[in-house]
Amino acid sequence: MHKFKNDLLLEALRGNSLSRPPVWIMRQAGRYLPGYRSLREKYSFFERCENPELSTEITLQPVEEIGVDAAIIFSDILVVPRAMGMEVQLVPQRGPVIPNPIRTENDLKMLSVPDVKDRLHFVFEALRLTKETLNGKVPLIGFAGAPWTLFCYMVQGEGSKTFEVARSFLYQYPQLAHKVLEMIARTTITYLREQIKAGADCIQLFDSWSSVLSPDMFERVSLYYNQRIIEALSEDCPVILFAKGAWFGLEKMCDTGAVALGLDWNIRPETAREMTGNKMTLQGNMDPAKLLTPIPEIKREVTKMIEAFGVENYIVNLGHGILSNTPVDHARAFVDAVKAYHS
Ligand code: CP3
Repeated sequence: MHKFKNDLLLEALRGNSLSRPPVWIMRQAGRYLPGYRSLREKYSFFERCENPELSTEITLQPVEEIGVDAAIIFSDILVVPRAMGMEVQLVPQRGPVIPNPIRTENDLKMLSVPDVKDRLHFVFEALRLTKETLNGKVPLIGFAGAPWTLFCYMVQGEGSKTFEVARSFLYQYPQLAHKVLEMIARTTITYLREQIKAGADCIQLFDSWSSVLSPDMFERVSLYYNQRIIEALSEDCPVILFAKGAWFGLEKMCDTGAVALGLDWNIRPETAREMTGNKMTLQGNMDPAKLLTPIPEIKREVTKMIEAFGVENYIVNLGHGILSNTPVDHARAFVDAVKAYHS
């Protein structure tokens, strides 16, 4: 058995009582850190993802610099559509671009359920190397994008606030859409199983665009595939499900097999506790923009949030990824405020 020096995150996922909740930050390994920005000048985004040494270095930066209670492997959800056969670019100032998105039945020909061990070996190598380097300092989080969120990019072809091309494809060609979602789900199951084998201590499934679906569609398209993925993993590893904006589906998400649910800032802690029957570990949910306010305000906000969620069954985080213009000392103040918390 691996011994952890700090396993607060895993204890919170088990529902054990703690003197303070664990804290980590979505997108903690990223552009707000000067160490990350300097690597950005030398290597392209996917070079950084595909080089296990670089990925390990970036993964460890926030653990060392801001003292979070968990590491999340540096990679991206879009390595999966790449492995399935799509070209994906990351264009500075613009975000992800898929030059040949899925728009007709014929476009499905470019997709396959790949041998992930071969196509995504660099992620597993990065996990092994990170795990070894961490040497039990904190737990290591693996992750993947949910099928619906990946489908959004694969059909829309770029980022969007509404993903209407992806939504209309879903309504116009439901069978084709489910075929694609099924392929993503199968790929994701083997991908995450391999991440667990390579050393991930828990998994977060990111469904960043579940918010663009109606509650009915959410159940059929987001929840259904997420549940299948989580059920395939949950015996081996705890899973955190973050379906951004899908507060209306919280009750249903309790039955997916996830041990924790991530929340954004569109819901009150009390409401989320009520909707989840006080039985789930909850994670979140401060607005990332609040990290731009003065440090004393950040500290007050953190204390308020812990009081609202309660110390138990709770993981402190933001409600979405940290903004790239966040001062490093503000991110550190967020983490320190959690560490200083006592009831
Ligand atoms: O959390 C971490 O620190 C681990 C690494 C991680 C990245 N992306 C690195 C990254 C994780 C967990 C992700 C998840 C991800 N990627 C999601 C789900 C979470 C969310 O934020 O909703 C999504 C939708 C993506 C797709 C993606 N990747 C977008 C839209 C962008 C560009 C815009 C942006 O937010 O930066 C990326 C690029 C990306 N992924 C960067 C990083 C550090 C920035 C790359 C750079 O400019 O150097």
